[in-house]
Amino acid sequence: MTKKLIAIWAEDDNHLIGVNERLPWRLPKELQHFKETTMGQALLMGRVTFDGMNRRILPGRETLILTRDSDFEADGIIPVHSVEEALQWFKNQDKNLYIVGGASIYKAFESHYNQLIKTSVHGVFEGDTYFPNLNLSGFREDSQTFYEKDEKNAFDFTVTVFER
Ligand SMILES: NC(=O)c1ccc[n+]([C@@H]2O[C@H](COP(=O)([O-])OP(=O)(O)OC[C@H]3O[C@@H](n4cnc5c(N)ncnc54)[C@H](OP(=O)(O)O)[C@@H]3O)[C@@H](O)[C@H]2O)c1
Repeated sequence: MTKKLIAIWAEDDNHLIGVNERLPWRLPKELQHFKETTMGQALLMGRVTFDGMNRRILPGRETLILTRDSDFEADGIIPVHSVEEALQWFKNQDKNLYIVGGASIYKAFESHYNQLIKTSVHGVFEGDTYFPNLNLSGFREDSQTFYEKDEKNAFDFTVTVFER
């Protein structure tokens, strides 16, 4: 299988994705979907999102952090300092690279995605960070899966996969 560069995110009815450097909702089932999808592959996130996770790495996945700080260091991550450097890393290995946000990072890789994996959380939340407007011409919907709320997940959500 050819490796892919993939954007993966979760947004609410208003395209909200973040609040105070964190996710606006608590949805363990959605986190499980993220984990299963990305396990064994590589992730790239912005430095702010990484700080919001208290710089904890997600096990079983290679993690690239995008930052303009040339002195940036943290245990278990690969720092990258430009989109070009990240793309060069992607080219020289075999894993899928999941672009996992935040807002500025999704935008920065706009013209490079092979696939998009969007979770629509069915609700309206308070927050400060929105998914950016991307030019998604050439993408078509490939699959859609609905997850119903339950005692541990207070909101329904739908995962839609788009392919180019
Ligand atoms: N719902 C979701 O799916 C989802 C996913 C991810 C994140 N989020 C949320 O999104 C929010 C954070 O998003 P954000 O947009 O504020 O921050 P971010 O995208 O996580 O990080 C921004 C930082 O990335 C670095 N950066 C950005 N573009 C760069 C470039 N071209 N070259 C080098 N470095 C670059 C800079 O780091 P330096 O300042 O270090 O130079 C910049 O300050 C949080 O609330 C988080 O929870 C939500």
